[in-house]
Amino acid sequence: MLNITSLREQYQQRYGIHPRLIVRAPGRVNLIGDHTDYNDGFVFPVAIDRATYVAARPRHDTTIRVVAADLGDEDAFTVDVTERSSGHPWSNYVRGVVRALRIAGHPLSGADLLIASDVPRGAGLSSSAALEVATGYTFQMLNRLNILGEELALLAQGAENSFVGVQCGIMDQLISVFGRADHALLIDCRDLSYRPVPLPPSVAVVVCDSHVERALVGSAYNQRRQECEEAVRLLRRWYPKILALRDVSDEQFAVHQADLPEPVRARARHVIGENSRTVHGAAALEAGDVAAFGRLMNESHASLRDDYQVSVPEMDILVATAQQLDGCYGSRLTGAGFGGCTVSLVDVSTVQRFSNDLRQAYQAATGRDATVYVCRASDGVGRAEDDGHE
Ligand code: GLA
Repeated sequence: MLNITSLREQYQQRYGIHPRLIVRAPGRVNLIGDHTDYNDGFVFPVAIDRATYVAARPRHDTTIRVVAADLGDEDAFTVDVTERSSGHPWSNYVRGVVRALRIAGHPLSGADLLIASDVPRGAGLSSSAALEVATGYTFQMLNRLNILGEELALLAQGAENSFVGVQCGIMDQLISVFGRADHALLIDCRDLSYRPVPLPPSVAVVVCDSHVERALVGSAYNQRRQECEEAVRLLRRWYPKILALRDVSDEQFAVHQADLPEPVRARARHVIGENSRTVHGAAALEAGDVAAFGRLMNESHASLRDDYQVSVPEMDILVATAQQLDGCYGSRLTGAGFGGCTVSLVDVSTVQRFSNDLRQAYQAATGRDATVYVCRASDGVGRAEDDGHE
């Protein structure tokens, strides 16, 4: 965990006074259910024990000053901000959330902020959602706004969609808000309801960063979204009531899949299969059947690789290696894909050896170093535990 005392000291050094508040919002790893959220489907993520922290004090004017401690950079704007910053791209997440809060009609006063994070950036662990949610919650607290968790997640997503320009779904922001220690959440991305499922204490969630840079992820991601919309448009010919791929059952798809052109057919097959894997997976885990859950993770990876085509060779190597190692129940790429991280469920008694063997095999096969994080499922956004100062 990031050192709160040092965060407080950095704040004091920069602004000459202690922060009034420190907010923490976690990154996430998704156990199963990828590329389903923007199809109104199901996801099954955990909030991880790596987070973005915002230290803050309110101001009496409309100025917002914000320091990115990890980058040694700083930006300033006002609560009425409408412009993106090209000089401080990281600041657009903060600007976007401020703008989204104002558009939603929330009155804001200025603030002095300092941000630090131990969520690896650009690795697919939702560092951006953590920053958006931490920022939104900070302004909520400073201005005593009455905002429900769902609204906070939607505002954060809206900031990313319209201000940052990535057409992401709602998963990352929702889990950063609602995450629960030692649980994964089965989230229905249509009505945003969720069910916490306890993670068995005998298994560890192991995240492995391939360090393959996620190039083109924005454009390829948006293209996948369009292909799913095309699938819905075509399937409406036979099923006029469907609103999203979520509404198509395995049986309905089997009847008409041959009528769809490629790659739309393969994309739809992934989404429809992944939705049912996610629902069944959550039920299996709830029933204590980790082995069944692991098999579904493996199937999910094959589907993301072959039908959705969002894997890269390095991730396939990591996943195939992990699946062979002792104590591993299942392994798959996680998040958007095109590089980034894999997730494996591993028996706690073998986790150390698993991590070492995975790193070594990856290095031997690709010449690259991987970083392994054994994650604990943590709580969603809130005030950071602090050391008693106010
Ligand atoms: C990214 C997006 C999410 C989700 C995943 C894929 O993380 O931000 O909304 O679509 O990709 O499951």
